[in-house]
Amino acid sequence: MFTPPTGLPSVASDLEMHTESITAALDKKLSENNNYISFAEYMQFCLYQPQLGYYSGGLHKFGQDGDFTTAPEVSVLFGECIAQAIAPLLSKNTDWDICELGPGRGALAEAIINHLNKLDALPQSYQLLEVSASLSDLQKSRLKPLHKHLEIKHLQEPPNKFKGIIIGNEVIDALVVERFYVNEQDEIFQIGVSIQDARLVEVAQAAPDYLVQAIKNLDVDIPKNFSSDICCQLKPWLKHITENCEEAILLFSDYGFSQSEYYSPERNDGTIRCHYRQHAHNNALILPALQDITAWVDFTALGNAALSLGMEIPAYSTQAHVLLGSGHLQTLDFEAMTEVQRFQTSKEIQTLTLPANMGERFRFMQLNKNCDEVIPAMQLRDLRHQL
Ligand SMILES: C[S@@+](CC[C@H](N)C(=O)[O-])C[C@H]1O[C@@H](n2cnc3c(N)ncnc32)[C@H](O)[C@@H]1O
Repeated sequence: MFTPPTGLPSVASDLEMHTESITAALDKKLSENNNYISFAEYMQFCLYQPQLGYYSGGLHKFGQDGDFTTAPEVSVLFGECIAQAIAPLLSKNTDWDICELGPGRGALAEAIINHLNKLDALPQSYQLLEVSASLSDLQKSRLKPLHKHLEIKHLQEPPNKFKGIIIGNEVIDALVVERFYVNEQDEIFQIGVSIQDARLVEVAQAAPDYLVQAIKNLDVDIPKNFSSDICCQLKPWLKHITENCEEAILLFSDYGFSQSEYYSPERNDGTIRCHYRQHAHNNALILPALQDITAWVDFTALGNAALSLGMEIPAYSTQAHVLLGSGHLQTLDFEAMTEVQRFQTSKEIQTLTLPANMGERFRFMQLNKNCDEVIPAMQLRDLRHQL
């Protein structure tokens, strides 16, 4: 079950005991459920099973030496641009806080705090909501020495009576998704996971009512003979995050697109993407709990969830336009840099903004609860008509 297919690096020998514990726990879970769990239950196990999951077991590695590299890990410029974009709102609303969801290794928090400090626009506090205890420890040691005048809070539950800005980069892609299949007769099946001949395999069974309803509620018709994924947790999660917010701007960045693109016929088989030591592939059934499993974000569904919770969608744009719209990249002093720095900075800007890299497929969505403010950088290119 744990042998990576040809082309993927082998599992380190010191993980033998850990992989045995994962196998035993997954075997037990499947045998207690007649050898069938939904893909969502499988993904939940792989990422969040206490002590064992990719995020809860402490194995996860981001950055150049790890499994995957996120925008804040690519360059400090990503966080600086976000800081530049929100600074005018923080200067105007001096009682606001920032809360970051899923801060990973704390790279984004560090860049935002340092840059807001330079701009003299620090919030009252910077709060971090993290589900992984080991990542939370890392965030604590990285951010503690930063600024003695800024209160840094590590949360286990969403903030209470919150006023301010909630930021989440590559967090929604870590929410678990269901996988489904629609046949020639438009019947809907849930795709789940079983063990056959000591291997994990995908199997389909009649979809439960909640899944049928969620698929019927989509804004688009699903093609026939088509399999894909859907995040049924999106609305309950957003509700949980925002229910105790008094006044908030939420800024989500992630790879994704609108629903019509998500469920377009050429995207048959869905958007699951797994990351293992800088190799990206779509086989979630290998390396359970040893690799990251993600799904692209359906931004139409995110927007609809927000609207149904009484929030607004003031902006939706591409990463390239938001970073350029912040104005920060245009202020970089290339003349003052060494050749090496100039080369490195140009490379980082290209990775963050070129359409073939992260510029186009990473999207930013702003959602507002009880608030009229719009982040000016989000308005350089308005893509809300695509939703
Ligand atoms: C792909 S990593 C992104 C990390 C970081 N935001 C970055 O851009 O480098 C996903 C992060 O979200 C966290 N996470 C996953 N589910 C979460 C949830 N329901 N609430 C808060 N954090 C969550 C993970 O532990 C991890 O820190």
